[in-house]
Amino acid sequence: MSTDPNEAFHDLLRGMAALSGNRIVADVARLYGKAAAPDLSIACNHKQIASKQWLVEALAESLPKPEGPVWVLGAWYGVLGALLLEDERLSISEVVSLDIDPGCAPVAQTLNHRHVAAGRFRAVTADMMAVDFAAQAPAPGLVINTSCEHLEDVPGWVATLPKGLPLVLQSNDYFREPDHRSCVSSLDAFREQANLGEVWFAGARPTKNYTRFMLIGRR
Ligand SMILES: C[S@@+](CC[C@H](N)C(=O)[O-])C[C@H]1O[C@@H](n2cnc3c(N)ncnc32)[C@H](O)[C@@H]1O
Repeated sequence: MSTDPNEAFHDLLRGMAALSGNRIVADVARLYGKAAAPDLSIACNHKQIASKQWLVEALAESLPKPEGPVWVLGAWYGVLGALLLEDERLSISEVVSLDIDPGCAPVAQTLNHRHVAAGRFRAVTADMMAVDFAAQAPAPGLVINTSCEHLEDVPGWVATLPKGLPLVLQSNDYFREPDHRSCVSSLDAFREQANLGEVWFAGARPTKNYTRFMLIGRR
């Protein structure tokens, strides 16, 4: 029997995919068959998945048919993109999955291989602070940033976005994490930090170690 954890995850997840018929589980299993990154299990853990399912639920109520590609910023390994493109309540032409870490794009493309083949997913390596969303063609229909806590200057970043652009933003109060630079202590503090022109959804989701906050609206 192999002691390689990736091989064990691969085997287990293939079994779970067969049992559940869930295509995302099958795609994660496939990824584990192809030398997965060590922190892939963190990106796919129950807390990460729950926060993204929360987002998908809220989006299905607030903006199920964005009028243009959906950009996911700080997208890590593209798990949110996979959930967005699988949900039948949402009508999304394309997901652009952006992360500053060059190790993320190949993993995100492999995870979303079915959508890459259908022309509905692409992963790019860039600093979200340097992207000019007004210059993108086609224009984004929605920009999602679930990594606001990682930015140095959230109000400064929001101010660079085109007025009226639909946004989904998540942050948290996990101040202890060294990579977190813009945590907020409450949902009200997040509303103030983001300063959106319109808010369609505002919610807080407590977890064991921290509370995650989400805003959906437009700049
Ligand atoms: C730990 S991960 C995701 C955490 C987040 N709460 C989530 O689950 O969506 C944060 C990601 O943001 C990325 N990131 C941080 N600053 C960024 C920037 N300026 N532009 C693009 N990606 C960035 C990191 O490379 C990392 O992959």
